[in-house]
Amino acid sequence: MSDEGEEIMTAKIIDGRLVAKSIREELKGEVENLKKEGIEPGIAVVLVGENPASMVYVKNKGEACRSTGIYSEEHRLPEDTSESALLDLIERLNRDRRIHGILVQLPLPSHINKDKVLKAISPDKDVDGFHEINMGRLFTGQEGLVPCTPFGIIKLLEYYNIPVDGKFAVIVGRSNIVGKPVAMMLLQRNATIAMCHTRTANMKEICLMGDILIAAAGRPGMITGEMIKEGAVVIDVGINRLDNGKLAGDVDFESVSKRAAWITPVPGGVGPMTIAMLLYNTVKAAKLRNG
Ligand code: GUN
Repeated sequence: MSDEGEEIMTAKIIDGRLVAKSIREELKGEVENLKKEGIEPGIAVVLVGENPASMVYVKNKGEACRSTGIYSEEHRLPEDTSESALLDLIERLNRDRRIHGILVQLPLPSHINKDKVLKAISPDKDVDGFHEINMGRLFTGQEGLVPCTPFGIIKLLEYYNIPVDGKFAVIVGRSNIVGKPVAMMLLQRNATIAMCHTRTANMKEICLMGDILIAAAGRPGMITGEMIKEGAVVIDVGINRLDNGKLAGDVDFESVSKRAAWITPVPGGVGPMTIAMLLYNTVKAAKLRNG
């Protein structure tokens, strides 16, 4: 029995490492089978410049591919690479039969037009799901390649049998990479959705309505316990590096875990799912090309 006023943690943990591992194991088997049919899924990862976080991501993506049996090549280009040189490389990779997936790590240096680069990737090889064709397919309910982080969130909900149909989902953050696509995926699965952002007037009241709350704003600890509906499912997409070197999510785990029914930790929640879904998309792209 707890003392009056004292709250205990009630939320169950959504374990992204566990789910990512199970997806990766499954993909490994699928890659083995594809290889028996003479198909070796392949990805090209392109990094321009030396952004330290990007360098770690690219290294991790390469290792994850190789451990799953996927052919992976890395193209590291200097910071002062011209836009046209990058576009030439993408054109070459578009034609390369060995490559089923092309990923250009973001952010790009400011002298390069990101939208132009993303648009240059063949939609069939767009394993990030950032191409406007794939975005358009997602928004119109057609089959395509979808962004990895939002897709990973959906897989987490599915793994734990967390219902979405008829639920009220609040998404905090309206990025093209997470907020907008995850809203469409939840809508597709019959959730009612609300999107909050920096200009939202009554953030707390809207968050309190959420049966599902997705925090993807990139502001450490901004979602606190008093913003959470009792029994909500809270998904924390934030990966914020604090001054002390520690990683922090957008969710204040301490206070939120006392009211939520389910919560993703940081690290070990959504993070591991992004790479797992990148592998998934690469295998899917290889299968699609080979009928
Ligand atoms: N930078 C941060 N996240 C991502 C991602 O998911 N894909 C790419 N290409 N770049 C990123």
